[in-house]
Amino acid sequence: MGNIRNAIVGLGRIGSLLEDDKLREKPCTHAGAVDLNSDCLLAAGCDLNKKKRELFKNRWKCTSVYENIGRMLQETSPDILHIATPPETHLEIVKTAVKHNVPLSICEKPLAHNLREAEQIAGIHSSGKMTILTNHERRYSRDYIRTKSIIEKKTFGDLLSINSKLYMEPEAKLKSTLLHDGTHLVDIVNYLLSSKLEKKSVFGSLETKTGTAFIFCRLKSLPVTIEIGTGRDHLLFELDLSFSSGRIRIGNGLYEEYASDKSPYYENINSLRKTNISGFNSTGYFSNMLIDAVKCFKNRARVPVSSAIDGYEAISFILSAI
Ligand SMILES: NC(=O)c1ccc[n+]([C@@H]2O[C@H](COP(=O)([O-])OP(=O)(O)OC[C@H]3O[C@@H](n4cnc5c(N)ncnc54)[C@H](O)[C@@H]3O)[C@@H](O)[C@H]2O)c1
Repeated sequence: MGNIRNAIVGLGRIGSLLEDDKLREKPCTHAGAVDLNSDCLLAAGCDLNKKKRELFKNRWKCTSVYENIGRMLQETSPDILHIATPPETHLEIVKTAVKHNVPLSICEKPLAHNLREAEQIAGIHSSGKMTILTNHERRYSRDYIRTKSIIEKKTFGDLLSINSKLYMEPEAKLKSTLLHDGTHLVDIVNYLLSSKLEKKSVFGSLETKTGTAFIFCRLKSLPVTIEIGTGRDHLLFELDLSFSSGRIRIGNGLYEEYASDKSPYYENINSLRKTNISGFNSTGYFSNMLIDAVKCFKNRARVPVSSAIDGYEAISFILSAI
């Protein structure tokens, strides 16, 4: 246990509860990440819901729980505030944190529920009043970091296209899935190429609660597609990167590399062969995010790997597509 004081507002799934999902890589919540970080101390938690406060208190042996965020900040003066409430509450909580001189916040995705509020949050980060990370945690995940390095080093030659698929909520409108889960997808594509995705056209309707739509995009000169669908009884988050001499498939529970090699099926032609590199038992996604936050807390000039500006860019793309 360290001496950097962390407080969490929103003690629901991503704040705390998902840590007890036996199948997930740990840590996978804000409370879990704080608990495992030797620089940090879980100082307090806040939730409007009494039952969530009780669960949190018992689960993490943290007796400082509050119903009101202002009171929590006043009485516990955290160094890092984790904002794990719904997106429509983020701006108000960020403003309250600034009022109480919190130096650093980690804000859940999507950064806000509309562009105007996302812009205000990014503006507060840029002003230096409070450093704000967006929890687009794939930026901290070893498999995506490896993929970015392969793109930059041209290990498989030039990256020529990215096709992605996102099937999340079986009964939600596609535009809702795009905002709530597509924010991760758009952000990770921006991260991989250190650039900003631009929408070209949409095939299908994002207003529907059934079926599939395709968003055709460009990133620098790279063609990118996003297939977004409902009606499936399973989750899928997957990117398929095609290189001049290879391929990477990466997504939730998925990591595969393929290299170009003499074809076992045809003479004088190459095929793709799966390499020995596959799967990551531990990606470190949540713990690495908190390590970055701690570094930013210790060095206020440091630029977070996933900042509020990155969070704003993802929302900006999504709203342009809707
Ligand atoms: N990074 C990820 O992979 C990931 C995963 C799940 C959720 N999320 C994001 O995290 C946020 C929360 O999602 P969740 O699934 O944990 O929701 P949840 O409903 O399980 O938890 C949210 C909690 O916030 C509390 N709350 C709401 N307004 C509050 C306020 N003003 N003050 C104090 N407490 C308040 C609610 O009572 C609830 O307990 C959302 O923005 C969501 O998109 C991110």
